[in-house]
Order: sequence, then structure tokens, then C-alpha cells
Amino acid sequence: MPLLWVLRDLLNLTGTKFGCGVAACGACTVRVQGQAVRSCVVPVGSVAGKPVQTIEGLATRGKPHPLQAAGSPSRCPSAAIARAAC
Ligand code: FES
Repeated sequence: MPLLWVLRDLLNLTGTKFGCGVAACGACTVRVQGQAVRSCVVPVGSVAGKPVQTIEGLATRGKPHPLQAAGSPSRCPSAAIARAAC
């Protein structure tokens, strides 16, 4: 099962989006051990024991990450922010 579906369907972290499903668009980008990855093609078993950060994890309680506060000119803000935060 791809990491994307575990994040969205099992953990309800819906900030990470589905776009193409073939690692082409970046809508599903998250950080694994600080590196941007396309979660639609990453088997969840390959990230066992590794830190995974989604767009939800960039903000602290009541305080958005500066990139979130600034907004994104991208049509896919979660992907742009995840890549920029690396
Ligand atoms: S959904 Fe497009 S790269 Fe993952």
C-alpha cells in the first residue's frame, strides 16, 4: 500500500493530495527523514521507523510555518510547501 493512502485514508491527514498517482505531479509530496518524496509511489513498509512529515506537521499549535503563512502561488500548495521546507 502506498504511503499516500495510509496518510489520507487511515490517518486522516488529508493535506497531502492525490494528483497523478505516478510520481509526476508532486501533489502527494511529503518529507521522509527530511527528504521530499512522492508518497503515491512509496510503499508504506519502506518508511517503517522513519520520520514522516506532512504539510500538517509544518505548523506548530496556533502558529503556521512561515511558508504556510506566506501562502503559495502554486496550484498545489501542499507540494510546493513540502518541497520548499526541505
Ligand atoms: S500524486 Fe502525483 S506525484 Fe504523487
